[in-house]
Amino acid sequence: MTLIWRHLLRPLCLVTSAPRILEMRPFLSLGASWTSVTKLGLHTKPRMPPCDFVPERYQSLGYNRVLEIHKEYLSPVVTAYFQKPLLLHQGHMEWLFDAEGNRYLDFFSGIVTVSVGHCHPKVNAVAQKQLSRLWHTSTVFFHPPMHEYAEKLASLLPEPLKVIFLVNSGSEANDLAMLMARAHSNNIDIISFRGAYHGCSPYTLGLTNVGIYKMELPGGTGCQPTMCPDVFRGPWGGSHCRDSPVQTIRKCSCAPDCCQAKDQYIEQFKDTLSTSVAKSIAGFFAEPIQGVNGVVQYPKGFLKEAFELVRARGGVCIADETFRIAPSMCITKPEVDFAVEVFRSALTQHMERRAK
Ligand SMILES: Cc1ncc(COP(=O)(O)O)c(C=O)c1O
Repeated sequence: MTLIWRHLLRPLCLVTSAPRILEMRPFLSLGASWTSVTKLGLHTKPRMPPCDFVPERYQSLGYNRVLEIHKEYLSPVVTAYFQKPLLLHQGHMEWLFDAEGNRYLDFFSGIVTVSVGHCHPKVNAVAQKQLSRLWHTSTVFFHPPMHEYAEKLASLLPEPLKVIFLVNSGSEANDLAMLMARAHSNNIDIISFRGAYHGCSPYTLGLTNVGIYKMELPGGTGCQPTMCPDVFRGPWGGSHCRDSPVQTIRKCSCAPDCCQAKDQYIEQFKDTLSTSVAKSIAGFFAEPIQGVNGVVQYPKGFLKEAFELVRARGGVCIADETFRIAPSMCITKPEVDFAVEVFRSALTQHMERRAK
């Protein structure tokens, strides 16, 4: 999921019961109506669309009790990123309701809700049907939903991405991809970008190159960071690097078919290959568009060229979250050797289609 934490660390949201108090709130925007926000120089009064859904009455733990339990019994690693996190009670489609019954328009709450929102009735109905039929079996037995799903998923993918391995999380998928890349190539070194987020398991921590996720202990060994070809904030890049509006600030004089920024970043990539890893490598991980590090798009053609260099060194190329974007925007699916996290992203797309 792509979570754009860096940009979410200081979002503003008004508390509905006490207008004008600004608090750090996660992902959510606009309580009820918003009164004057003179500090921000905003004088408009955006109103949320109406909603006829009525949440159940909240009858569980009070806020302070939740806080106490959180402090006493949950690992300190499970932090909320905000001073006073919302105590959420119920979700309905695009809406979230807190314990006090305040309604929030949820722009970015969780990966699985991005495409269909919360508690979509059609998705609920399918899940409930399965729950009342069979909760769990070991994989040593067959149960057809997995097979039906694998067949449908494979029909959406090109060769050679036709073999489905279902896991429970993105980190697990990347752990597995690292292992497979190493087993397949008989090499150890894996390259990923600075600013990359590929998970926080002990293995993938070596691939994740975002400061706040680093620990006192080193992450997985054999992982080597390389410069992120960030055309927006990096040393090279301009308006022709990409067609996205967020990349257009710096002027650039490249002719339509060439990209000097791409060439400069490829030189850096070659430098990593020739100075920082073994002569033969296991692979290269990249998010097609970086998420946690901000929405970072690489110059056109960069990944294709980098993939060729990686393959020349014996490595495989792994796109983490291939389906986050339309493939045509960045890499086309056949260019990668493994598509990681297909399950999560494709599942949400499938749910989206079913929910329509
Ligand atoms: C690109 C990418 N890879 C891996 C992960 C890790 O996924 P999980 O939190 O399911 O382990 C994330 C999570 O946001 C992600 O955005």
